[in-house]
Parts: sequence; C-alpha cells; structure tokens
Amino acid sequence: MVEAPRPARVLDGKEIAAKVRREVAADVARFVEKHGRAPSLHVVLAGEDPASAVYVRNKERAAKEVGMAGEVHRLPADVAHDELLARVRGLAADDGIDGILVQLPLPKGIREQEILDAVPFEKDVDGFHPMNVGMLASGRPALVPCTPLGCLRLLDEAAALLKADGVPFSIEGANAVVVGRSNIVGKPVAQLLLQRSCTVTIAHSKTRDLPGLCRTADVLVVAIGRAEMVKGDWVKPGAVVIDVGINRVDAGDGKTKLVGDVEYAPAAARAAAITPGPGGVGPWTIALLLQNTLRAAERRLGAR
Ligand SMILES: NC(=O)c1ccc[n+]([C@@H]2O[C@H](COP(=O)([O-])OP(=O)(O)OC[C@H]3O[C@@H](n4cnc5c(N)ncnc54)[C@H](OP(=O)(O)O)[C@@H]3O)[C@@H](O)[C@H]2O)c1
Repeated sequence: MVEAPRPARVLDGKEIAAKVRREVAADVARFVEKHGRAPSLHVVLAGEDPASAVYVRNKERAAKEVGMAGEVHRLPADVAHDELLARVRGLAADDGIDGILVQLPLPKGIREQEILDAVPFEKDVDGFHPMNVGMLASGRPALVPCTPLGCLRLLDEAAALLKADGVPFSIEGANAVVVGRSNIVGKPVAQLLLQRSCTVTIAHSKTRDLPGLCRTADVLVVAIGRAEMVKGDWVKPGAVVIDVGINRVDAGDGKTKLVGDVEYAPAAARAAAITPGPGGVGPWTIALLLQNTLRAAERRLGAR
C-alpha cells in the first residue's frame, strides 16, 4: 500500500511572533532589574506617508507592551534636510538611547543615505549599517536585519516540527537556495544560512534555469516581490519553503488580496513545511525589532 503524503507543516508567523514577544518582555524585565532602566527605542518619522504612520504606531505600541522606553520623533514632510540630520545626530549622541530607527521612505528633498549614515552602528536596530553588514559577513553578527532573522527563526521552527514528526531534516548540510539578492533580505539571509552550515546558492533575475535550481533546494527562501512566480513544481518534495514576498493582487469584484512570491497550494502539496504566503515573516518583524533593541542595549552596556 502506498502511504498518503503527509500534509506540509504550516509555519504560522503569528504564533511565533507571540512567542518572541513573550521572550523579549521577560528579557526586558531582567534588563531593568540589572541596569535600573528599560532599553529605549527612538523612531524618527518624517512626513505623512499613511503606511509609515501605521507601521510606526504599531512599533510604538509593541515597544510599550514589552516594557521598553522610547519616543517617536514626528517631523513635518517639509522638514529641512539639515534639521532632520541634526535630530538624528542628537539621538546618536544621547547616551540614554539604545536604538534608533529612521522610518523610510523619507520625504522628497532629503538625502536618505546621509540621514541613515548618521545612525551609529551600535544603535542601528535595522542592521543596515555597513559595520553591521560587515560583522555579519565575517561571521560575527551584531545587529542583523529583522526579516532575515525571522526567516532563520522560521527555519528553526520547521526543523523542530519535522523532528517531532520523525521526518529526517537537518539545517546543517542542507542545500539552500535564496531567490533574491537584496541587501535587506536575500544577502543577509544567505549569510545566516551559511553560518548555519547550509550550502548556499543565491539566485536573482539573471540566474539560468531558476526552476531547475529551486528543485535542488532542501531549504528554499524566496524574496523577489513577484506574485506567485515560484511554481509548485519548482519545489523539491520534502523541502522547507520560506516565502518572504508580499504582493497585492486583484482578487476580482473590485477587491484586492495579498499573496506571496510562491504559488502556495501546489507548493504546500510538495513541501515538508511552508510559510502561509504573506503570513510567515511579515507579522512579526516588529517583535524582532524589539529583540534587536534589547540586543543593542545589552551590547552597549556590556561593552563598558
Ligand atoms: N517583513 C517582511 O515580510 C518583508 C520585508 C522585506 C521585504 N518583504 C517582501 O519581500 C519581497 C522582496 O523584497 P526585497 O526588498 O528583497 O526586494 P528587491 O530589493 O526588489 O529585490 C528583489 C530581488 O528579486 C530578484 N528578482 C526579481 N525578479 C526576478 C526574477 N524574475 N527571477 C529571479 N529573481 C528575480 C531581483 O534580482 P536582481 O537583483 O537581479 O534585480 C532582486 O535581487 C517583496 O515582496 C517585499 O514586499 C517582506
């Protein structure tokens, strides 16, 4: 008799987010006990971009919920470049501030890179500062970007679930294919996978035979920003699939919906574990941002 295929384990980002938030809240309480103050996160929001305003409000609320200190610095859309720069430099010089996040996009007329460069690497909770990028590349990660951290946490979760199911799967030695080479997702994910002793291939828009390459992947991480581009039959049976993509598409009758970069149902029919499209990494990058703030605070105080 042929055994029926096991349904894929679905890696529920929301459940893991709640777990990470609980962990961070407990660590914040320990930090307060030890250092007599809470870790602090300061967010700079310039302009009135509605999506940014929502993200920042969510970050503010989440930080409060885990017991962190901090402030949102709201500046008008017509803020002068020098004024914004001076504000970020002020936060950088303030010894009581552990993490600084400049919400992007910045208003027109602002030289974005100059503003980002004013955030010192030890307070760079986004992990984009060249020093943090270099630390990660040299195998000594300090502050790592949140979405890649989330991918690795999901992979660990997948490994634990598959182990409990008695399915043979090991991160060490796995063939990992990362589709996408952006500085914020693809490259840092690849570095983290390499550190976990995967054999890593990074694919991009010039890669030849992408379907064939994906079919070699025990671990497939997709971050391209193209709705359902990765087809179900590109997935190796038994693979772990992490879909980072978030794409808004037409759902008919005048409505829209969010889909990932992977065609979910046919991919789930072959994978051993898979993220549920946009519900994998997206919902909990804020929890990881808080974890990074705590890490920044611990590193700053520990370094003294
Ligand atoms: N919190 C979250 O969950 C989160 C966070 C960040 C991003 N995202 C989502 O993740 C996706 C990727 O974001 P990103 O910022 O990394 O995007 P990005 O900067 O636009 O990079 C996209 C990457 O995909 C590659 N690519 C594009 N078309 C391709 C094709 N046809 N075949 C193979 N590779 C292709 C590009 O290759 P080239 O380099 O050759 O152009 C590039 O490396 C987006 O949907 C975004 O919304 C989610």
